[in-house]
Amino acid sequence: MAGQSQKYHEQYDFNEEINEPIIDRMRRIKINSVVPGMVLGKTIYGYNYEVLLNKGVALTSAYINLLKNRGYVRIYIDDDETADIVLHDPISDKIRIMSVRDIFKTYKVTQSAITNIKAENTESIIKCINTPKIKKSFHESQAFEHLCNGIHYFIDEIMKQDVMSGLNSSKSVDNYTYEHSVDTAVISIIIGKKLLLNREKLVQIAIGEFLHDIGKIFIDEKIINKPGKLTAEEFNAIKYHPTYGYELLKDIHSIGTVVAHIPYQHHERQDGRGYPRGLRGTNKLDDKGVAFTDREKLIMFAEIAALSDVYDACSSDRPYRPGLPPDMVYELIKNGAGTQFNKELVDCFLSVVPKYPVGCEIRIKNGNYMNFTGVVSSLNTRQMAKPKVKLLADNMKNKISPVEIDFSSEGIGIEMECIW
Ligand SMILES: [Fe+2]
Ligand SMILES: [Fe+2]
Repeated sequence: MAGQSQKYHEQYDFNEEINEPIIDRMRRIKINSVVPGMVLGKTIYGYNYEVLLNKGVALTSAYINLLKNRGYVRIYIDDDETADIVLHDPISDKIRIMSVRDIFKTYKVTQSAITNIKAENTESIIKCINTPKIKKSFHESQAFEHLCNGIHYFIDEIMKQDVMSGLNSSKSVDNYTYEHSVDTAVISIIIGKKLLLNREKLVQIAIGEFLHDIGKIFIDEKIINKPGKLTAEEFNAIKYHPTYGYELLKDIHSIGTVVAHIPYQHHERQDGRGYPRGLRGTNKLDDKGVAFTDREKLIMFAEIAALSDVYDACSSDRPYRPGLPPDMVYELIKNGAGTQFNKELVDCFLSVVPKYPVGCEIRIKNGNYMNFTGVVSSLNTRQMAKPKVKLLADNMKNKISPVEIDFSSEGIGIEMECIW
């Protein structure tokens, strides 16, 4: 293992910058509210994960415009007011970058093998995926082997925490799919840990999540990246990505069949109204984790993936629409329990994912502090919807000396919302 670890690390030449700790002190604000002179709270990386802007840099209008052009909607800012707010990232930048690169390379290796292959309809695409050329390009690629080896470092980091305290990553136009794959895996592993799943199962979940959308490489890029609403025909084409992902992953013996069923079933629903097969769920936790007992029924790993996928996709900013605020996404998942998502799994999810993440800006909706604004300062891990907040401005937007409210005690009856 030590030798393998060294080999893995040698392939990535990380500078000290990336080796920074998981703890940061900052808040995340809209790029439109950023003004020159504000200090960047988190390093921003380019397409190849080269450093674009270093954490700690004072932002200029040129930098702010660069970030806007790259499609960033929100960034992390470091300031005196939030100096005591500790934000734990679920994974370090180092592991995030390793993971994103592994996913990126695994996608690219197969993507380059499919050029020049003509596939006009679904059947011919499935045939094409099952040709030795495509299968070999994927199964025997160093990128995929590397991804499987690296998964242990990813899991090790997440296993150090019990809940998600931080926000999801800042995604740009270029890296959306890969960052989304990492973020869904982070949420799923935290849920898996809460469910006391063993290591082998966590590895299966992480690999399945890293590659849950890989079937999209067989769909026209113009449809995948279309900024506006999809036509019925385009949406129909997208609906095949779980099937394509399954076809690509189904016979890799080293990782097991169950991994392939994560991409295959991640858009299915409890009530049978999902796609591609309209499978159903039982709304109960399956303590074995995976049970192919009934061909019509969903497996729990895919039910976890369905939850994480919707949570991250709805929370993430896209160039054509901002992400939904975390408190709204939290409610959306809660309301989907029983119909869209496995009910017992949602209960587990709500105990590890915060309604108001640390570092998020909030507004008070009622009472003496109505319309005062502030930031979530820490979580109460036993009541994830009731954090501590620090009010920083009054209802006229004037700065005030910070007022702390603990929503699990004195905050009873006070309502708040995330400012997004
Ligand atoms: Fe998907
Ligand atoms: Fe997805």
